[in-house]
Amino acid sequence: MTKKRNVLEKSKTVSMVSDMNISSMVVTGAGSGLGRSISLVFARAGCVVGAADINLATAEETVRLIKEAGGNALAFHVDVSDPVSVEKMATYFYQEWGRVDLMVNNAGIANVGLVGEVTPDDWKQIIDINQLGMIYGCHTFIPRMKKQGGGHIVNVASAGGLICLPQMSPYNVSKAAVIALSETLKQELASFNIHITVLCPSFFKTNLTDEMKYTDKFQLEFTGAAFNNARITSDMVAESLLKAVRKRKLYCIPQFPAKSLWFLKRMMPSVYHGGMALVYRSGGERLALWLAKKGLV
Ligand SMILES: NC(=O)c1ccc[n+]([C@@H]2O[C@H](COP(=O)([O-])OP(=O)(O)OC[C@H]3O[C@@H](n4cnc5c(N)ncnc54)[C@H](O)[C@@H]3O)[C@@H](O)[C@H]2O)c1
Repeated sequence: MTKKRNVLEKSKTVSMVSDMNISSMVVTGAGSGLGRSISLVFARAGCVVGAADINLATAEETVRLIKEAGGNALAFHVDVSDPVSVEKMATYFYQEWGRVDLMVNNAGIANVGLVGEVTPDDWKQIIDINQLGMIYGCHTFIPRMKKQGGGHIVNVASAGGLICLPQMSPYNVSKAAVIALSETLKQELASFNIHITVLCPSFFKTNLTDEMKYTDKFQLEFTGAAFNNARITSDMVAESLLKAVRKRKLYCIPQFPAKSLWFLKRMMPSVYHGGMALVYRSGGERLALWLAKKGLV
């Protein structure tokens, strides 16, 4: 226990995210892309990090990078689609540190395609990881946070869940559910000193599309172009998240195009949906590809 306390004590001396009362955090999907960036950015801000991933070797590499930067971290193997595995993860970090101040439900995959062509197995896979994975994270950590007197949950959704672009239904559906979950929790947890942030970025380059399932080559071409020409990096998204957590903001939408489309959808839903359908019918794929190549999605 002395050793365990020392990890936290030491992290407090780095710079401690004291304005947020956050000194310990768990990040799922911490072995790659955004999860690794979030782990590093928050570690630099003084958090001790529990880096969890289904790929333990990559989580351990994140821990190595954090330690190299002067921070503290522990790696853990988790499969977020398995509630037993998520429970084991929570038990491990609570045994190590006694509390977890920030839980970042980040692990996710991307399956896209046309409804009717996406296979039931591909639907199930993305719902299991992107949707149920985040539900299990909340289910497991919220009672512990209530007990410890507070905390903060970050759910990594996507702009896809807000603006619902065509040919991305499985991904959009899984992320819209995460947004609904987060909005519900904002109200439910208000009296428990537990804060909630839902992160909704658009495209930025990570390994997300490496194993992406799709039904038409256009989807692969579009996401490839969007990833390769993105004007924002995973580190920049993680920095935006740090600011949002500090301010205890519910929505963190780092990129302007998504923010403005979301605004239009809420203000004028029929204009938004009618306009999007019109564009889609009249050569929308070419336009989408052009915008992606210009880094404008
Ligand atoms: N990259 C983008 O453009 C983008 C945009 C919006 C939202 N997001 C979201 O960001 C999050 C992180 O994705 P990324 O872009 O960094 O992709 P990534 O593929 O680089 O990282 C995802 C990580 O999650 C892990 N993972 C996958 N399944 C898992 C499981 N069942 N249990 C535990 N870990 C698992 C992977 O091993 C990997 O380390 C995802 O939720 C994704 O939907 C990404």
